[in-house]
Amino acid sequence: MPALVLLGAQWGDEGKGKATDLLGGSVDYVVRYQGGNNAGHTVVVGDQKYALHLLPSGILSPGCTPVIGNGVVVDPSVLLSELSGLNERGVDTSKLLLSGNAHIITPYNVTVDKVTERFLGKRKIGTTGRGIGPTYADKINRVGIRVQDLYDESILTQKVEAALDVKNQILTKLYNRRAIAVDQVVEELLGYADKLAPYVADTVLVLNQALEEDKVVLFEGGQGTLLDIDHGTYPFVTSSNPTAGGACTGAGVGPTKISRVIGILKAYTTRVGAGPFPTELFDEDGEALRRIGGERGVTTGRDRRCGWFDAVIARYATRVNGLTDFFLTKLDVLTGWEQIPVCVAYEIDGKRVEELPYSQTDFHHAKPVYEMLPGWSEDISKAKSFADLPKNAQSYVKALEEMSGAPISAIGVGPGRDETIEINSFL
Ligand code: IMP
Repeated sequence: MPALVLLGAQWGDEGKGKATDLLGGSVDYVVRYQGGNNAGHTVVVGDQKYALHLLPSGILSPGCTPVIGNGVVVDPSVLLSELSGLNERGVDTSKLLLSGNAHIITPYNVTVDKVTERFLGKRKIGTTGRGIGPTYADKINRVGIRVQDLYDESILTQKVEAALDVKNQILTKLYNRRAIAVDQVVEELLGYADKLAPYVADTVLVLNQALEEDKVVLFEGGQGTLLDIDHGTYPFVTSSNPTAGGACTGAGVGPTKISRVIGILKAYTTRVGAGPFPTELFDEDGEALRRIGGERGVTTGRDRRCGWFDAVIARYATRVNGLTDFFLTKLDVLTGWEQIPVCVAYEIDGKRVEELPYSQTDFHHAKPVYEMLPGWSEDISKAKSFADLPKNAQSYVKALEEMSGAPISAIGVGPGRDETIEINSFL
C-alpha cells in the first residue's frame, strides 16, 4: 500500500518538482490535499518547462491520474486556464479528478484578500493575493461555496447571498469599496459548471479504492511546514495544513494508510512574505544565494528572502510530520563558499535553545547559533552517487542528516531532471 506524502520541510519552495520527477512514471495518482493557486512549481519534461499553480504535477505523466482533493481551494478560472494552456501544448488533461467537496475561491474572496492586506499596512502577512485565506475562512465559518454547489442554482444563489450579506457590509462600510452583486457572482460561477463537470468525482472513494488495489498514491503538499496554519509561524502562515496530517483530512485517507512521509529540504533556507526567519541574510551572501539559486517566486515573481540552513527547523519538521526521509535539494547552490554556516540552535534572551520555541515572542527574538562547516569548490552537478561528491560536500550532507533527525534519501545537485543522487529508493 504505497501511499507517500511529499511536503516542504521549511517555508515552501524547496523544489518539490524534483522529487516528483524522481518518482516519475511509477506513481498512479498524484493528489493535492491543501492550498490553492498560491502554490507554484516548475516541472521540466524533456525540453519543455511547465509552471503549475493549482494542478498536481501528475498532470504531466500520461499514466498518472491527477487529483484535486477536498482540502484544496479552487479558483475555477485559474483551473480552466491552466488546463487549456496545457491542452494547447498537447498535454492530455482528461484524467483529472476534482473533489465535489473542494471549496471554490470566489471573486469576492480574492477582493477581500487584497483589501485586507492593504488595510493591514505594515502589519500585512504578505499573502499571494489569490483569495486563499478568505476562502478557508468562509469554509470554517460554514458560508463557503463548494464545487458541488455549481450544480444546484438555487442552493448556489442562497449561499452566495449568505456570504455576501456580511461581506458587502464590510466592503462598503469598512473598506469603502463597492458592494458585489449576488447575480453577477452566481452567473460567473454557473458559467464554470459545464466546463468542470467532466472532472468532478468522489475522490475519497477513488483514492481509497486505489490504495486497496495497491496502487501508488502520492500526496503532494503545497507551501511548507512552517507555513502551516497550526504548526507554522502563525500568523505569518497560509490558511491550510501542508503538514502530513493535512494529507489525511484534505484527501479523506486514514493515517494508517500512509506509508512514507518525505520532507523536501533545501540545503539553505528561503521564505516569501512577512514573518520571522532567524537565519535570514541581509548581506552579499544572501544576495548570492538568491542569484545562484534563482530564488524568485513562481507564483508571485517576488524575490525570496534567503538565509543559511536552519537545523532547528528541520528537526521540528521531522517531528510534526513524522518524516521518514528527506530529499535535500539545491546542494549545488552552495558550491564555492569556503565555509558554510549552519544554524544548530538559537540563542533566546541569552539562553541556548535546541528546539523550536512554541512562543511566538521567543521565536521573534531567536538568534542563530552557527557552526561552520568546510565548503567545496568542485562542480557537483555531474555526481551520480554519494561517493562522487567531494569529501566536504559529503560531510555537509551527513552533518545535516544528523542534525535533522531523518535520513537524507536523495540529493538534488542541479536543476536538470537527472541531476539527482538517489541514496534510498522512495518506493
Ligand atoms: P497565502 O497562502 O496567499 O494566504 O499567503 C500566506 C503566506 O504564505 C505568505 O507569506 C505567502 O508568501 C506564503 N506562501 C503561500 N504560498 C506559498 C508557496 O507556495 N511558497 C512559499 N510561500 C508561500
